[in-house]
Amino acid sequence: MDRPDDSAAASYDPMRQFAEFAGDVRDPYPMLAGIRADTPVLQVHFGTGSGGRSRHDQKAPRITSLFTVTSHELAQQVLTDNVRFSSAGYAMTVGHMGRTILQMDPPEHLRHRALVAKAFRARVLDQWSDTIIGATISELIDAFASDGYGDLIPQLTFPFPVRVIARILGLPEADWPRFLRLSTELIAVMRNWDRAVAAGRELRGYFAEIIADRRRNTRDDLVSQLIEAEVDGRRLSDDEIYPFLLLLLPAGAETTYRSSSNLLFGLLSDPGQLDAVRADRGLVPQAIEEALRWETPLLTVARTATEDVELGGVRIPSGGFVAVSLGAANRDPGRYAEPDAFDIFREDKQHISFGDGAHRCLGMHLARLEMRVLLNAVLDRLPGLRLDPAAEDPHILGLIFRSPPNLPVRFDPA
Ligand code: HEM
Repeated sequence: MDRPDDSAAASYDPMRQFAEFAGDVRDPYPMLAGIRADTPVLQVHFGTGSGGRSRHDQKAPRITSLFTVTSHELAQQVLTDNVRFSSAGYAMTVGHMGRTILQMDPPEHLRHRALVAKAFRARVLDQWSDTIIGATISELIDAFASDGYGDLIPQLTFPFPVRVIARILGLPEADWPRFLRLSTELIAVMRNWDRAVAAGRELRGYFAEIIADRRRNTRDDLVSQLIEAEVDGRRLSDDEIYPFLLLLLPAGAETTYRSSSNLLFGLLSDPGQLDAVRADRGLVPQAIEEALRWETPLLTVARTATEDVELGGVRIPSGGFVAVSLGAANRDPGRYAEPDAFDIFREDKQHISFGDGAHRCLGMHLARLEMRVLLNAVLDRLPGLRLDPAAEDPHILGLIFRSPPNLPVRFDPA
């Protein structure tokens, strides 16, 4: 990057930004259960004059009424129907990154997804497992393993996925602090639009240099794979690669940091289940799936009705804004027994935290891999791990995104 002395980065606290952005709601689930018991689709009117338009994309839909979907069945119905439920409304929330895959509808979405999916193939993931993900987690744990105590959020789960992404992109280590600051500003768009737009512009300039370099010298990294991906003789242009790279930060870093934190929180809060996983690592995958269901890192995804639709007995007019509550769907008692309990042994482990249908998370295998490598490393390297008995009431917070702000622990020092 051009500016080696990044003084703004020195005084910047990205964790505080993330914590504030997520909201301070401790437990939204009773409220969501109340709505679901009342109606599977809640309508809220804003009147004709209100609603938002993206400053970036003037074609973004105006919100006049909001329909919140809380049942598992109807959530799936909306997400698997991308003809009657469009994703174009994402222009309002991520439009500052350019035209991302999240806001595309068919047939554009299908074409674009086929190209970027090439860079996330299982073979590619296998290559990243030890060299990138394992190495990143080891170096983070090395920094505190001999202390006997620590806070697993700032010391482990928060820096972990953004460093993985920086490595997957092949960014030089000297650029990481500034990359982290810009990533955080880019994501915190609802708190500070102008700063987010400026961060997006700066990151785009930075990525332009990286893309130009990889076009000259192909390397073994994600940027090179995106450049080389080809479907039916078509490749991605630079203007398509920038927004995709920008999207990886909120989509891949923030979600995975929160899902890993929730997994550790769930297990540490229930020592019996933690011991079971410690004794039998074969339980790690089901612990991961249950943590994702129980506390989804991202509570809601959005759609816009493209025509008048009836959903759960409620009429949604064309242009109606639909908020699909992944959190409520994951705790639908019609689908899960004792839905509020964190139970890694439950039978139905399927959840909707990665979405469903055409936009289903492209990075879900990577996210699962990161969580698996992290949990195994924590169990291997921090023996006797337990919540710090002196910690004041650790808990999960958030209404948009959810995870614990802190996780103070004790363990036997290495
Ligand atoms: C536990 C971690 C994660 C969760 C809970 C999660 C959740 C989601 C959800 C719910 C969607 C669908 C959004 C919608 O339908 O409107 C999505 C899409 C997406 N995710 Fe993830 N994600 C995670 C990790 C990742 C990672 C690690 C990456 C990549 C590095 C990633 C990349 C993407 C991309 C590119 C899309 C857009 C796919 C499309 O529009 O076709 N995600 N994610």
